[in-house]
Amino acid sequence: MTEATPASTSCVLVIVGGSMAAVKAPSVLRRLREQGLGVRAIATRAALAFITELSLSTAADGLVGTDAHWFEARPDALHLTHARVDGVVVVAASAELLAGAAGGHANDLALASLLSVRGPVLWVPAMNEAMWRSPAVQANVERLRSWGHRFLGPEVGAFGTRGEGSGLGRMAEPEDIAARMLTLLRPVKRDLEGMRVVVSAGPTREYLDPVRFISNPSSGKMGFAVAEEARDRGADVTLVTGPVTLGDPPGVTTVRIESALELRDAVVAAAADADIVVMTAAVADYRAAEQASEKQAKIAGDVTIHLTPNPDILAHLGADKGKRVLVGFAMETHAGVERAAAKAARKNADFILLNYPTREGTAFGGDDNQVTLVRPDGRHEDWPRVSKREVARRLLDEAVQAAHARPTV
Ligand code: CTP
Repeated sequence: MTEATPASTSCVLVIVGGSMAAVKAPSVLRRLREQGLGVRAIATRAALAFITELSLSTAADGLVGTDAHWFEARPDALHLTHARVDGVVVVAASAELLAGAAGGHANDLALASLLSVRGPVLWVPAMNEAMWRSPAVQANVERLRSWGHRFLGPEVGAFGTRGEGSGLGRMAEPEDIAARMLTLLRPVKRDLEGMRVVVSAGPTREYLDPVRFISNPSSGKMGFAVAEEARDRGADVTLVTGPVTLGDPPGVTTVRIESALELRDAVVAAAADADIVVMTAAVADYRAAEQASEKQAKIAGDVTIHLTPNPDILAHLGADKGKRVLVGFAMETHAGVERAAAKAARKNADFILLNYPTREGTAFGGDDNQVTLVRPDGRHEDWPRVSKREVARRLLDEAVQAAHARPTV
């Protein structure tokens, strides 16, 4: 176990939702207890269709909270007692539970407890792929994410009802759930207090005319994760982002741009007094040499578009680096380490995180990333495949080290 263990007194509330995966809930409870955590459990009415109160209570500390107990005559408010924990994990999380939480409902013990709780909330969904992908469920997920809730899975694999076989929708494994919960409970370092961090994220759009542009599928998730991690560690954070579907992270100054030229202006302005600049943006290398002011009608035959190179923002910052730590990202499909090291040297970056867009689990838009840290002199280390938030945490650890290694003037 490489993760620091939180205080042994930490207590987690496990809410069990109404999905087939509820049968795995006792294993999740056991795994959490093995990590030295106190564990309370609540089962929703729907969960009790899949699993019994008895099998849950044998794995939890004390009685399992259910709606039946909530409405018993008792001196304490059960939802408040259950909410007195350090974090919550919602396993076998159903579309119904997500909707209730995203809507702020409190009509059962699980939802009322969720409203009362402090500390991190981790959702571990398990449902049919079509349900998970439905706009309603995705809107609820985005809403909860914007409030700082975290998600693990669903994963691809065998699951569910007869005939469904396999697909996206399987609940994450109990040991992975316990490991993620431990990470979330770890006391947050405030080592970026007093520092200014600038992060660029997402794609750029290079308009050819008012309605057409050149772009790429960058989701912005990596950059947003860096901005949120830096904020939580006490930094003053400016996030400059191209068009993405993610909402402004609370507590971060967010600047929305479209083109590479706008990105350069916003990043250069924000970077003037920055300590750390992290360029995760997937900047389009070229823009139209001339942008038409009117929509261009189609013409018969081939069309040639004249493109001109965009400025290299990272190289521009590197040319007059000052005390700043500069971090870049690179996507390569071959000769990754050599190319990334050459890039870091050319752009005067402290290091570059290299990812392979063609590898499973690291494609555009995913929640995980597997990167290799590459230094300008070619030294490099492979990091395991972890959540983008965990990549952000390691990235900032490295950047802080680099900042402290700077000679003081
Ligand atoms: N970058 C930048 N400005 C650009 C292009 C890239 O600041 N115009 C930054 C990216 O945000 C990233 C790093 O440079 O942090 C590497 O990006 P990449 O596109 O891989 O590098 P390029 O120099 O464009 O190399 P290639 O020749 O492989 O396209």
